[in-house]
Amino acid sequence: MAKITVKVPASTANLGPGFDVLGMALNLYNTVTLEECDQKGWMIDVKGEGDNLIPRDSSNLIARTILYLLDKTDYQMKGFKLCLDNKIPFQSGLGSSAGAIVGGLVAANALVGQPFSPDELLQMAVEIEGHPDNVAAALFGGVVIVAQNDNSLIYSRFVPQRGLKITAVIPDFCISTQQARSVLPKKVPLSDAVYNMGHLALLITALRDGDWELLGAALHDRLHQPYRCPLVPGLVDIMNVAREAGAYGVFLSGAGPTVIAFTPPRCDIGEVLADCFQSQGITARVLQLEPSITGASIVLEE
Ligand code: HSE
Repeated sequence: MAKITVKVPASTANLGPGFDVLGMALNLYNTVTLEECDQKGWMIDVKGEGDNLIPRDSSNLIARTILYLLDKTDYQMKGFKLCLDNKIPFQSGLGSSAGAIVGGLVAANALVGQPFSPDELLQMAVEIEGHPDNVAAALFGGVVIVAQNDNSLIYSRFVPQRGLKITAVIPDFCISTQQARSVLPKKVPLSDAVYNMGHLALLITALRDGDWELLGAALHDRLHQPYRCPLVPGLVDIMNVAREAGAYGVFLSGAGPTVIAFTPPRCDIGEVLADCFQSQGITARVLQLEPSITGASIVLEE
């Protein structure tokens, strides 16, 4: 009976102006172990983040994702055991659902002898997740820019320059992506679209070149953060405090509620930002992270 373990990184999406097109993998990993067994159905064991919220039956996102891929093959269905060891905070804007989808797809693809290319896995991940930024970063690692071109996805991946400190402040409440997308307008002013295009182009240049001053100036957005502020109490204050405390820039990670600050290496602002949440009556924890150069990978048995 086959047994496959996949390690998949957390990710941050949007990074300010890159709504639905830009993602960065982060060095915080979930592992998904998929094992065939004789007994039909699913045995699901969850450890770590989200263990009290994640379903243990066939409604589990990883289980559904595995079946989504296997349904495209002639695999003769057996029963499965899934062991999930989660380090990515659940529904916090750090790509937990993207990690689940990518982890499930990579494990299922390995189970049936890798018939699908990475591009095909990306296409499936986007069909399941609905938007490409987190899943692309989780699959490929580094920073990934993705766009929809008629019926296909086009993307470019690069490794950001070293020297950026990434502080994630994670308040202890969840926002589902569905909820965070429901507050967005269907149409935006042309001037706001132009504003974001300019900032996004500069942001990518800054990450590639290690131009941190430019990065700070480029991390502004008018397409999603202004509409999501009411979902994250104190967000505007936190952003102001972070910049005053020395951050190059600060943004809502994905759909939130996690806030990420990019700072110089010796700048320590995590606790100051956590205190901002605290003053709203919200507990928050702080993680110091780095970009993950590797995306989802199969862990070889010792
Ligand atoms: N780009 C997506 C959004 C990321 O902002 O809704 C959510 O994970």
